[in-house]
Amino acid sequence: MEVVIVPRPEDAAILVADAYCALLDRTPDAVLGLATGSTPLPVYRELARRHRGGGLSFARARAFLLDEYVGLAAGHPERYREFIRTELERHVDFAPEAIIGPGDLDMDPLEAGPAYEERIRAAGGIDLQILGIGSDGHLAFNMPMSSLASRTRVKTLTPRTRQDNARFFDGDLDLVPTHCLTQGLATILDSRHAIMLGFGRGKAQAVREAVEGPLSSRWPASALQLHPHATVVVDEDAASQLAFGEYYRTTYAGKPAGQGL
Ligand code: GLP
Repeated sequence: MEVVIVPRPEDAAILVADAYCALLDRTPDAVLGLATGSTPLPVYRELARRHRGGGLSFARARAFLLDEYVGLAAGHPERYREFIRTELERHVDFAPEAIIGPGDLDMDPLEAGPAYEERIRAAGGIDLQILGIGSDGHLAFNMPMSSLASRTRVKTLTPRTRQDNARFFDGDLDLVPTHCLTQGLATILDSRHAIMLGFGRGKAQAVREAVEGPLSSRWPASALQLHPHATVVVDEDAASQLAFGEYYRTTYAGKPAGQGL
């Protein structure tokens, strides 16, 4: 696992956008894994900026969402599929139908998990998966104690996650769905490159446990320790509880120029 500590989220966005550019340059029909939440927004803004500048095209790419709420009507602004439409898809040039989420399969949510896994497999697997981290260490919607071997399935949201996400529902906890469909931890581990972002002090404990704690379903993001190519990009606040901060800084500073993430 590579840990990169940057001063600000905007600096992380530049590095991650560089990784998208390198991938799409090499493989224009790459398969992308998209995350929601506030964390990836600086990255999506940077991708849109580069697209406007003519240096980045998603025209042949395909994308899979990490997760989706269960029970929000199609078109609801807080559906993750809508979030991606607003924050990324509208600003770049994905082909129609190129982006799909686990809630888009038009089937009973309990059956959608295996079908979604099959869609990812049929697309050739995910080349680059971007991830945020929950304050309790959750990854996608894999809540604490999620199986490290889990696949896409329905999960119940914890009270803490519903509380964290109530800000997107006018602060009204009752409006936050109780269930979701989420890629599993094993699904995420199948991606060829996973980049997890964490910003702010509220993520510092979760980042510490994910990176330096024991591998444990108590902190689902620690599953990334099993990933053959995982990169964690954090700002100074989110890195503030890491014991090996100096080591990560020295290692990153000593990387051969042009190697990328
Ligand atoms: C939600 C999403 C996660 C995300 C997390 C953190 O629970 N399902 O994918 O990582 O929120 O959100 P934020 O980035 O807004 O802190």
